[in-house]
Amino acid sequence: MNVQMKKLPDGLFKNTVYRDTGNGFPVMLVHGFPVDGSLWDYQANKLKSFCRLLIPDLPGSGQSPFISGVTIESMANMLHDILLQEHIDRCILIGHSMGGYIALAFAEKYAQEIKGLGLYHSSAFPDTQEKKQGRTRSMAMMRQYGAGVFLRQMMPNLFGEKYRKNNKAALQTLIKGKEDADVNALSAYYEAMMKRPGRTNVLKQLTVPALFVIGKEDTSVPAADVLQQVALPAVSQVHLLSDAAHISMLEMPDIATCILEEFIHFCINYPFAEDNVVK
Ligand code: MLT
Repeated sequence: MNVQMKKLPDGLFKNTVYRDTGNGFPVMLVHGFPVDGSLWDYQANKLKSFCRLLIPDLPGSGQSPFISGVTIESMANMLHDILLQEHIDRCILIGHSMGGYIALAFAEKYAQEIKGLGLYHSSAFPDTQEKKQGRTRSMAMMRQYGAGVFLRQMMPNLFGEKYRKNNKAALQTLIKGKEDADVNALSAYYEAMMKRPGRTNVLKQLTVPALFVIGKEDTSVPAADVLQQVALPAVSQVHLLSDAAHISMLEMPDIATCILEEFIHFCINYPFAEDNVVK
């Protein structure tokens, strides 16, 4: 894949790395926890023939330096910094899980700068008390035993049964590649996710198309929660995937590509895209 790895030159997120590849309408793909922008490699390699992809490594992930005190909202500002740096005034923004929480915060603050909003295994609901307690326990575990122990226990649960059974080696490789993850960065993401507000209002006010990709087996962002949100935007595309859990880009890569391709074309051609404010 002919990809330029670029860095933000200054500001709070100086040296944050992002991929820039392809030609056409700008599309930003934002990864979730605990991976990096390479999560989208398979799809990016296909989509780059008709759109321009900007794919960051969030601060503390992949090649981007960790910045203490990151919040979901500050990471949304970081996405905005990338657009400014590239002189892009509008993009289609698609976020996976935590990346979706960031995309929602971006849509709240920079509504005029999106031409479509995709939530890939993500949700506009805030953390439940139970989820917050689970994150607090996980942070204690990673501090005591290190990122490797935590990720070996946590990451298999992101995948559906079928994938876990048929892709044992790939899963081990993925987990192994993350074992050196910075505990400070992982904890900062959990803190950020715990503090984020619900953003169903963003969905209600959205006048560009929304995309919801939902895994029926997802235990991290349950289908039942997301299904309550799909009718909030004016226009939604919804994909409910029976054989996927939380990472369908890896679990069913060609279907994920198909979904993205269709949504991107739909957003580009969407007739009311200039009218981004509810009247
Ligand atoms: C993610 O994939 O980004 C996380 O699982 C999201 C979460 O824990 O809420």
